[in-house]
Amino acid sequence: MAQLPPVDIFDYIVFGATGDLTMRKLLPALYYRYRDGQIPDEARIIGTARSPLSRADFQGRAEKALHNFVKPADLDPDTARRFLDLVHYVSLNGAEADSTWPALKSLLAEAPADRIRVYYLATAPGLYGQICENLSNQGLVTEQSRVVLEKPIGTDLQSANAINDGVGRHFPENHIFRIDHYLGKETVQNLIALRFANPVFERLWSSDAIEYVQITAAETVGVEGRGPYYDKSGALRDMIQNHLLQVLCLVAMDPPGSLEADSLRNEKLKVLHALRPITPDDVATYTVRGQYTRGKEGDKTLAGYLEDLGEDATSSTETFVAIRAEVHSWRWGAVPFYLRSGKRMAEKCSEIVIQFKAAPWSIFATKPPANRLVIRIQPDEGVTLSVSTKDPTPTDSLALRQADIDIAFEKAFGTRYPDSYERLLLDVVRGDPVLFIRRDEVEAAWRWADPILQGWAEDKVKLEPYPAGSWGPEAARALLARSGHQWHEDMA
Ligand code: BG6
Repeated sequence: MAQLPPVDIFDYIVFGATGDLTMRKLLPALYYRYRDGQIPDEARIIGTARSPLSRADFQGRAEKALHNFVKPADLDPDTARRFLDLVHYVSLNGAEADSTWPALKSLLAEAPADRIRVYYLATAPGLYGQICENLSNQGLVTEQSRVVLEKPIGTDLQSANAINDGVGRHFPENHIFRIDHYLGKETVQNLIALRFANPVFERLWSSDAIEYVQITAAETVGVEGRGPYYDKSGALRDMIQNHLLQVLCLVAMDPPGSLEADSLRNEKLKVLHALRPITPDDVATYTVRGQYTRGKEGDKTLAGYLEDLGEDATSSTETFVAIRAEVHSWRWGAVPFYLRSGKRMAEKCSEIVIQFKAAPWSIFATKPPANRLVIRIQPDEGVTLSVSTKDPTPTDSLALRQADIDIAFEKAFGTRYPDSYERLLLDVVRGDPVLFIRRDEVEAAWRWADPILQGWAEDKVKLEPYPAGSWGPEAARALLARSGHQWHEDMA
């Protein structure tokens, strides 16, 4: 087990601590970092929520979360017991000024005033401003305090600005950590290494050599118990406006001057600004939206979205999106960046496909297919480059055969791939914002997404049904076919 340098002693105060995110992601991630020696024994994890629980009750829930979400082989009982000793609970309604703030205040006052404090807001985003105001009025925002905002930051530009203004009144921008867990994924960060540590790729990284790019985040799960949130959100707000645009930025950006946070974020922002606007009148040409209907997985029947929502539900929320985006810059010209995300699709797979241009001329009997670089974000993290080689069959002609240069990271490096929250949660303690989103990025992303949402709200493109367990509606295929392109699963 790797022993990594520990971070400074901290108090992590989680608002919305009884929720799914805390149990499924935050506590298991902190456990792993504790197990690997990165969290000092004096650190505290203080859950807050409205439920009137005792500390022991909350520790009991935390213990259950570890059993449910940490791999059994990684869960050492003695380490888990010591980890649970770090866990505290205060029953508190963070959005109410006259809630039980004194209890939180006195718990925090037990630590030196200059201890690092992280306020992690895992509540409804509409409450972020109010919680920050209460923290400030209670005198709990110290020089060493940071605030973490979970997505979604708003549902459009206007609501995002209201949230950012509310939080920004009490925390300076460099103490605000807007989390996008895709940036914490090892393979997403690996894009930076792949592109800027390997000139062999970077020299080809433009419209000169690249025909098109695909970025897919496909999930097999439906909306599970998250219907009430998801139905107000939909795939564009839930996945594309944040996760997929961030990945697109890392694929398309110019080399940053350094790995310093603002250097990287300035380059990402340039990409967001260069995105070709898709107006409400363009949505029928450049976007596809779909909703899953009842489907099959082997013998099993998969419920449709409306059935998942509940009896007699009606909804025009999209559970699938495909978009042809373009980054209008000298480097990219009109290279299409196809973005796609959906629930209840055929496979769980997040990947980037870089489709290179074919050779201008062939000296072989058959034209060799163009090279393709596939960066698998999850599962089976890795990189594959498809190449043409000589078919070793002894014939009188030089025939070609396709092969892959393939690196499967876990196998190659023999190491566990940590969950993205493990890295991000401790980056906040370290005060390193490089993998977090700056306010202007959020704004630029909404500025691009808003007109698409408007076009959809005006029904300028039909909501296409697709069977659960499929790769989405036919219209998504047609979107690429118009330019002679194909989605990865359809490629030979
Ligand atoms: C979240 C979305 O941000 O990302 C979920 O709200 C989605 O709807 C999840 O399921 C996907 O994350 P991952 O890491 O499983 O690709």
